[in-house]
Amino acid sequence: SEILTDELLAIAVRVARQGAVTARRMRDEAIGDVETKSTDTDVVTAADKAVERQVIEALLAERPGDGVLGEEYGDSATVAPGAVRWILDPIDGTVNYLYGLPQYAVSLAAQVDGEVVAGVVINAATGDEWTATRGGGAWRAGHRLTGSVRTTLDQSLVATGFGYDARRREHQGAVLARLITRVRDIRRLGAAALDLCLTAEGSLDAYFEKGLNLWDHAAGGLIAEEAGLVVGGLSGAPAGKEMLVAAPPALFPVLHDVLVELDAAGGP
Ligand code: IPD
Repeated sequence: SEILTDELLAIAVRVARQGAVTARRMRDEAIGDVETKSTDTDVVTAADKAVERQVIEALLAERPGDGVLGEEYGDSATVAPGAVRWILDPIDGTVNYLYGLPQYAVSLAAQVDGEVVAGVVINAATGDEWTATRGGGAWRAGHRLTGSVRTTLDQSLVATGFGYDARRREHQGAVLARLITRVRDIRRLGAAALDLCLTAEGSLDAYFEKGLNLWDHAAGGLIAEEAGLVVGGLSGAPAGKEMLVAAPPALFPVLHDVLVELDAAGGP
């Protein structure tokens, strides 16, 4: 119901804000120390885990019966029918986080019976927040989001991202080499949740990526959909690991067909 959904969003925003403060604080404290950690990603892993633990604890304190799927700690106990499953990426954009680039986010979504019904993405470096509830629109700072009005690919700024696997990257690079001549330009900002939110607000015209996990796109995908964008996979498949495309309704089929032509969902 609408009341439950609004309540879930209110909890999500409150809890995600706390997580964002922790992420930001740990980043600030690590300045100057990042290079001396034992591995390249230590600082990130510690912060990811701290934020995830904090968010899970806060969620379960308020709603003890719920389930949580998080990037670091995996899935909690199976969720009863009708119960809420929270989907969390404690720090999306971990490489940006490692380098102190202000494009990293806490992403938190509430799912009921397999459907995402509320979501929030907070850029932890800037404090910018994007929210949506299913049927209730997508919002940033009190403004309702509507996406871009671009209809042709050659006038479109298209964002994408790469996985961490070298063989997948080889394929993604080959696709990009052919796509780049057909678009206004390409952006690789480094955080899928923020890519989706920026597409939702029209700061990017479209976004696509192969290989995303649910925690990368659960909240941002709802925000994009509620801004009126089409979010899907290729050839009628739902958005998922194989491919996620987010674009305004007129642009979606154009980008979709080019991605099919370039076999963007193929490869490892
Ligand atoms: C990654 C980022 C990146 C995307 C990768 C994701 P993480 O998430 O969203 O932009 O290209 O596919 O794995 O590892 O920073 O949480």
